[in-house]
Amino acid sequence: MAEIAPSTVVLQVSDLAVEFPTRQRNRTVKAVNGVSFDVYAGETFGVIGESGSGKTTLGRALVSLIAPTRGRLLLGGVDPATLGKAALRKHRRDFQIMFQDPNAALNPRMRIIDSVMEPLEVAGHRDRAMNRTSALQAMARVGLPAEFAQRYPHQLSGGQKQRVIIARTLTLRPRLIVCDEVVAALDVSIRGEVLNLFADLQREFGLAYVFITHDLSVVSHISDRIAVMYLGCLMELGPADALAEHPLHPYTQALLSAEPIPMPPSMRRQEPIELKGEIPSPVDPPSGCAFRTRCAFATEICAAVRPVWEEHLPGHWVACHHPLARTLDR
Ligand SMILES: Nc1ncnc2c1ncn2[C@@H]1O[C@H](COP(=O)(O)OP(=O)(O)OP(=O)(O)O)[C@@H](O)[C@H]1O
Ligand SMILES: [Mg+2]
Repeated sequence: MAEIAPSTVVLQVSDLAVEFPTRQRNRTVKAVNGVSFDVYAGETFGVIGESGSGKTTLGRALVSLIAPTRGRLLLGGVDPATLGKAALRKHRRDFQIMFQDPNAALNPRMRIIDSVMEPLEVAGHRDRAMNRTSALQAMARVGLPAEFAQRYPHQLSGGQKQRVIIARTLTLRPRLIVCDEVVAALDVSIRGEVLNLFADLQREFGLAYVFITHDLSVVSHISDRIAVMYLGCLMELGPADALAEHPLHPYTQALLSAEPIPMPPSMRRQEPIELKGEIPSPVDPPSGCAFRTRCAFATEICAAVRPVWEEHLPGHWVACHHPLARTLDR
């Protein structure tokens, strides 16, 4: 990973929280519960965590699809909450999101070319001929032949549909794309191709990705930095290598040790650590450390005090009262 100057921060998140109402009054789902991090231009910022840990909710909040309940979000130095409707719409173009299911994102009755042009039209670009040219260029860039322009989504494979979504997003020239499980639905054989395409586009356009997945082998492969989420909180954040080779949080270590064989040797732990029990409800998260009910190292303080989110080693953050020590031979 190249050294990144602080001036190239594209996204700043501090103490961000998103709560959803429940049927019971005064009780909320704490889907995102106070997270802080920055994302730099041109980097891939991986987010991992079990199902229900709040990854999608975080991703939606990052691109202003949901308003945060608490905390602050700066996109390119601007707080979207301070913008009026028109300015927000313009601002949003720079910060896009892509989801797992390309079928849900494509209108089955629209030809591919029209789907790819649509974001430009919505953004107010009126010149249809120019939009068409931009759309065809974007399609070529993601490896879709021009003859696909006249086809409908059902005439494309899953990987091709995902390329259409990427082309659609690219026409807007965003600075950051939140990718939420974007390769999860794809066949393993084409997953690599689509991931390589993401990497090429990043180099070409200086794009930043927030890459959400629960597939550790994907995230470790493509991320510059990785954040580990659990029950709405960040447990650990660090350079991908450091986090995989010397995890500081017991939860990270448990996630890594649960990973089946195709991990790089450096990421395999000698002794598997089992996660005890089920993930608690985000309506009623544990006091203190969210992970303590499943942690082998938990003590009294873990129930009493929420651990501070601190930079334990340069660039390597952790929220834990008992972070794992790095062994001397490393
Ligand atoms: N609109 C909503 N209303 C109420 N609760 C919600 C809503 N959206 C998400 N939740 C809850 O918030 C929590 C976090 O959900 P989220 O979809 O962000 O998790 P996730 O990490 O993306 O999970 P997965 O890996 O399964 O996609 C879950 O408990 C979920 O049930
Ligand atoms: Mg999700």
